[in-house]
Amino acid sequence: MSDPSPTRPTLGITALGMYVPERVVPNSDFEARMDTNADWIESRTGIRERRFAAPEQYTSDVGVLAVRDLLRRDPQALQGVDAVICATVSPDALMPSTAALIAMQVGLTGAAAFDLSTACSGFVYALSVAQGLILAGSARRVLVVGAEALSKIVDQNDRNTAILFGDGAGAAVVGPVPAGYGFQDFIMGADGNGGSSLYLRCVAPTLPGGFQMGDSVGMNGREVFKFAVRALGDSGTQVLAKSGLTTADVDWVIPHQANVRIIEAAMDRFGLPMSKTIVNLDRYGNTSSATVPLVLREGVDAGQITDGQQLLLIAFGGGLSWVAGTMKWWGGAPSLTADSKAQQQAEVNA
Ligand code: COA
Repeated sequence: MSDPSPTRPTLGITALGMYVPERVVPNSDFEARMDTNADWIESRTGIRERRFAAPEQYTSDVGVLAVRDLLRRDPQALQGVDAVICATVSPDALMPSTAALIAMQVGLTGAAAFDLSTACSGFVYALSVAQGLILAGSARRVLVVGAEALSKIVDQNDRNTAILFGDGAGAAVVGPVPAGYGFQDFIMGADGNGGSSLYLRCVAPTLPGGFQMGDSVGMNGREVFKFAVRALGDSGTQVLAKSGLTTADVDWVIPHQANVRIIEAAMDRFGLPMSKTIVNLDRYGNTSSATVPLVLREGVDAGQITDGQQLLLIAFGGGLSWVAGTMKWWGGAPSLTADSKAQQQAEVNA
């Protein structure tokens, strides 16, 4: 870890939950309403199916359910939380913040609450912001939620975008962890010159310079693809160097889940085999700020991510934005044990 301070507490993830909506949307569903086919989608993206929120289910709803999952696994997990960050690109409203709506429903009324808008980089960005809040003495623990109802903001008849995105949420508590564990370093960046590669209109009709935006997500897929491969490779390499690590030290690369070909290119750039990463976009598609916590939660539940392992988190998104983080996984908290899901299932069956 760079610049270690003897008084600086070690911070990391102390609880983790996830939620994906019940409705499964297979690739074949798109064949009826647009010129595409299931095989094209799977071969060009790696996606086989995604989840869509119910008509009356919005981002705060899926976010709350991810927090409830975290509480089921560890009922004490929110103790000491006095700030809530919701990373989202599909907020319920511009105001109130989705974070405030989630806080209200999970017993955290009164905590600081705000949304963070860096699209698919949002969750990892928010981990870094949470760390900063705690180190500045502004919060003791922070609840970070990455939640999206992207199916509501994507034109379901646009084959450029509709096939890629899904809905879901992940929730993590950031707080003190034992020495030797937790966050090491983060690298964050953004370049508004790439704004017209991935956009959604809100108040202004155009971007600076006059680029016209539409009322649903717009994207230049080829531009985003090229940017993503470069951003993941560069930021991942930089953050490893900042932490005094090499790719040989990495147990798991935890990438944003947008397209399996982007992940393959990044792993190739690192000189690492695909067996060193976890992919779940085949089942969920791109859930923007929810992808990284979904991979973490499922990786722990599957017994892949275990105590003391070195993780490299990498993500990119609208902005254009990018982020990378190094973290030693702490598996000591009740919600972070691999068998908690099995225990939960056993309780349900009993
Ligand atoms: N079904 C069938 N054909 C499609 C299609 C679809 N859903 N979408 C595009 N095509 C066609 C194109 O029109 C093009 O046809 P043409 O050669 O006759 O012009 C052809 O397939 C190839 O298009 P191209 O854009 O080069 O495909 P691609 O291999 O780059 O794949 C994406 C397109 C969108 C899957 C890919 O560029 C991508 O994943 N980009 C990154 C997007 C992303 O990650 N966004 C979120 C960022 S957080």
